[in-house]
Amino acid sequence: MFNRKDLLGTKDLTKDELFDLFKLANQMKKHLLDRTVNNELILTGNMTTLFYENSTRTKHSFTAAGQNVGLNVSDLAVGTSSVKKGESLYDTAATIDAMCMDIIVIRHSSSGTPHFLANNVQASIINAGDGINEHPTQALLDCMTILEKKGSFDGLNVCITGDIIHSRVAKSNFYALKTLGANITFAGPNTLLPKSMKKLGATICYDIKEAVKNADVVMGLRVQLERQKNGAFPDLREYHRHFGITEEIFRLAKKNAILMHPAPVNRGVEIQSCMVEAPFSTIKEQVTNGVAMRMAIIKRIMEARKKSTQNELRRII
Ligand code: CP
Repeated sequence: MFNRKDLLGTKDLTKDELFDLFKLANQMKKHLLDRTVNNELILTGNMTTLFYENSTRTKHSFTAAGQNVGLNVSDLAVGTSSVKKGESLYDTAATIDAMCMDIIVIRHSSSGTPHFLANNVQASIINAGDGINEHPTQALLDCMTILEKKGSFDGLNVCITGDIIHSRVAKSNFYALKTLGANITFAGPNTLLPKSMKKLGATICYDIKEAVKNADVVMGLRVQLERQKNGAFPDLREYHRHFGITEEIFRLAKKNAILMHPAPVNRGVEIQSCMVEAPFSTIKEQVTNGVAMRMAIIKRIMEARKKSTQNELRRII
């Protein structure tokens, strides 16, 4: 069972821990959809969100998830906080810690920020996206969605397309999916594909048609212009023409393939706009599963805090 102080990434999560979270999230989802409460699932404690980067889905679903399991949830609005007076990350986090928060959910543009905080505060740290490193809760909700739709990960062909090099979602999905037994292909322009992923066991493909062939799951990723210092491709229209997931491209995948995207979507760039609402698209369901999965993660972390002393809890670095 998942029994950790912090959730920093998916690299070290075991298959058992992953399936434990899928099972609990599935239970949470039933309550979420039925608007019912199971008193056994209700917790007491305090959680705060600390987002140094913008977010719609992750921040709001963590707030909903925390409230759904009974926590007091607050947000430290970075833009109007003492961060603007020059307060350091450590001082901000230590201040929140001194307010007896059980969980701090952090998003930051610098890779490794959650790991630093995990070693320096008493609160449990949940990584809500650190730079280009990891976004574990997104990958966990994505894997939950794949399991619901496909029933198993064994030998499943997952094709992840787009801006892989800047994508924390791609990395967290890769680590989790590899542990779960799926085959992962990364596709995109060579300026956005890290060759290092090949050494870790992924297939690298620069031809989107080739990459999508025989895929059970096609996952588009947002082109992250805000992280691209030099133009990685001539322009967005050119990108869509060569690497966009269109109806024509998607038809090359297996008959019952699903189309995923963590969102926000640049419609008409990484995905043809009409595909977002297509019957094979799971984009909205991923959002619903995000609340359920985050409820499960919060529950397991709060249980672990109750059961063990700080030092006994394992960390993922
Ligand atoms: N998928 C995701 O992380 O979306 P937000 O940036 O809106 O949180």
